[in-house]
Amino acid sequence: MCGIVGYVGSSLAAPILLDGLRRLEYRGYDSAGLAIHDGKQIEILRTVGKLGRLSEALRAHPLQGTVGIGHTRWATHGRPNEVNAHPHVAGGVAVVHNGIIENHLALRHELESDGVKLLSDTDTEIAAHLVNRALSNGCSTLFEAVRHALRQIQGAYAIAVVCASEPGVIVVARNASPLVIGLGDDANLCGSDIPALLDHTRNMVFLDDGELAEIRAKQVRIETVDGRVVQRPPKHIDWNPMMAEKGGFKHFMLKEIHEQPRAVEDTLRGRVNLAAGDVAGEEIGLSAEVARSITRVYFVACGTSYHATIAGRYWIEQLARVPAVVEMASEVRYRDPVFTPTDLVVAVSQSGETADTLAAVKAARAQGAKVLAVANVLDSAIPRLADASLYTHAGPEIGVASTKCFTAQLAALLMLAVYLGRRRESLTEERARQVLQALIEIPNQMRTLLGQAPYLLGIAKRFVNATDVLYLGRGLGFPIALEGALKLKEISYIHAEGYAAGEMKHGPIALIDENVPVAVVCPRDSLYEKVISNVQEVRAREGRIFAVATSGDSAIAELAEHLFLLPEVREEVLPLLTVVPFQLLAYHVADYKGTDVDQPRNLAKTVTVE
Ligand code: G6P
Repeated sequence: MCGIVGYVGSSLAAPILLDGLRRLEYRGYDSAGLAIHDGKQIEILRTVGKLGRLSEALRAHPLQGTVGIGHTRWATHGRPNEVNAHPHVAGGVAVVHNGIIENHLALRHELESDGVKLLSDTDTEIAAHLVNRALSNGCSTLFEAVRHALRQIQGAYAIAVVCASEPGVIVVARNASPLVIGLGDDANLCGSDIPALLDHTRNMVFLDDGELAEIRAKQVRIETVDGRVVQRPPKHIDWNPMMAEKGGFKHFMLKEIHEQPRAVEDTLRGRVNLAAGDVAGEEIGLSAEVARSITRVYFVACGTSYHATIAGRYWIEQLARVPAVVEMASEVRYRDPVFTPTDLVVAVSQSGETADTLAAVKAARAQGAKVLAVANVLDSAIPRLADASLYTHAGPEIGVASTKCFTAQLAALLMLAVYLGRRRESLTEERARQVLQALIEIPNQMRTLLGQAPYLLGIAKRFVNATDVLYLGRGLGFPIALEGALKLKEISYIHAEGYAAGEMKHGPIALIDENVPVAVVCPRDSLYEKVISNVQEVRAREGRIFAVATSGDSAIAELAEHLFLLPEVREEVLPLLTVVPFQLLAYHVADYKGTDVDQPRNLAKTVTVE
């Protein structure tokens, strides 16, 4: 996610903005920029890479004004280069933006047919042009022009806007992306995140969705887009800078677990067409012809991404009726595999840089297979090599143990299955609509589950002294059993194994006794009865069971020592919910043990070597 900072006051704005952006650096970014109003005009500086480059550019070309906006960009639309860096300019207007404008393609066509020449690939530049057009068409203030532009924009945004004709003013607005206003003595500030403002003030006003504000040095005015005046007293923030970076959570991992509803929402944004029971093709980049001609889907990935591909395989087979296989990328690259030109190789990687996945992609390409990348980092190595890319929009993930990228990958792969199923006519519009409807409801259901997170604290205590834990699941519960076990071993260093529940009797059952906790993915789905039989086999050997099950299930309530209950949802979307309690369980066990949760020993976030 991008970082925004704004300042209106009597000190030089540029160094304050640069410091604010530095406070957001921990989140990752690929370019940065400033727009400074010197009282007469707005000057822009943009650089690719780290803030040191922007700082150097500023030394070479000092900007003098006392009003300005700054931005660190984490690319979502368009490559990370200078042209796509923020601020974006149209006429006398400069805009920085965080979020995704869903209807950017339609707006782009509309502006272009109006004679506007767009310079970048970003959705943000469109917002700058809409504001500029509103000013040219008679809006008397920047505030009104931004309000006018917002009425045309759908999607998620936090924006900050300055304009040459109104020195001394920043206009900000938000919808589904955070925007906070900091109240100083003789200056006011704004930012996407609290850490950017903490050096200057602890009194903050948080904008709500659908609100915009006009910020001057000594005055802040807030209204809704519909024109209702908003009076909101500031909150006093007493977080220290470390707490602020983590949004008040103890670790980045916990923050990222709680960011999953937004990660999934952003990944679905602008891609799902419920009315048509379909997924927007241009977002996936595979033509209908390719979708129809492929004879096999071949998933390659590593680690957590590999677990997402197992769910992807089940979805592709069930919904698109294409044979699908899954393989760890490290095995593919040295196995002398056979690919054909009608294979669709789907390479899933949050970083887009994992060496083994990259090598598997190269092997597939060498044999003429089509490659689709599912990645979280725009323009990273794997998408660059692929024929098409479907990006997850989870935002930067800092915790080494992947959480929000995993659920965003699941959302992307389910959309891919629906897209292929509709093109291949194996999936009816009605079923597609039901699946997509269920998928759209997931973020709110996740929010409810996360609200029950404290319940897992007690359960985690029971796991702390275990030396081995077995995770079981079937069908779409199988990849979640693998992922639950991986999370636990990665961060708590407790030995954990994920197994297909049906395979238990072929080996792992020998391990079970009263000292081995068994975690079971056991929602009411089509394999429920089978999983219950496995649970009974565990009980018969004194195994202690923690089950993630469906609310109202009395059978599992009798068998399990601990339960975490989910709402009843369509089977296809279950993995997006079942994984959440396992992530939380692993987190709390690790936290009790006092391990380095965000940077577990021996692990790296991005593995660019073999
Ligand atoms: C490392 C990370 C894991 C990740 C795996 C694959 O092992 O620690 O969290 O799942 O790499 O990474 P990728 O970027 O390809 O998804």
